[in-house]
Amino acid sequence: MAPTRTFFIALVFAAAGSLASAGGHDGNPAVKARKAHMQLYAHNLGILGGMARGNMEYDADAAQAAASNMAALSSLNQRSYWAPGTSNAELGDETKALPAIWEQGSTAGQIGGELAAASAALAEVAGNGLEALGPALGPVGATCGACHKAYRVAD
Ligand code: HEC
Repeated sequence: MAPTRTFFIALVFAAAGSLASAGGHDGNPAVKARKAHMQLYAHNLGILGGMARGNMEYDADAAQAAASNMAALSSLNQRSYWAPGTSNAELGDETKALPAIWEQGSTAGQIGGELAAASAALAEVAGNGLEALGPALGPVGATCGACHKAYRVAD
């Protein structure tokens, strides 16, 4: 028993070590995490937008799943990956996050709250047909745009 247990413990540490070094070599872990979070927004919103624009056939289950994902994602506590000291002023090209996010009077947190509210409302109706989905998407997309305009380096 004992050797097996030691082996497993060694495996766990090896895995943890490689995660930590991946963070060190490939960039700031907070930046990577928030970009991944944004990619999940884009993926799920892309499905819903595709249906709303008629590029994808409306499917109630798929719409509900994507909208529920949006509601869940937007309600996660994202504190650790919006850590102070990780703007483009400190990290350069690695990130497009502007220092204004962390400055006095920043509305980034408020916009995040609006996204969560709009996503919860979207999840209420997304499975009820295309006519219900379309109008509920607008407020979600508006918060993405508002935050990018104010707090992300323009493309
Ligand atoms: C509270 C502000 C805020 C909100 C709300 C927000 N974003 Fe972002 N988004 C950012 C910032 C800041 C960046 C740049 C992150 C970086 O480079 O570190 C970003 C980056 C991105 C990226 C690029 C990620 C990458 O891999 O570089 C995508 C895609 C994206 N956002 C999609 C969305 C979508 C879709 C929504 C709405 C559902 C959304 N965002 C809502 C602030 C926000």
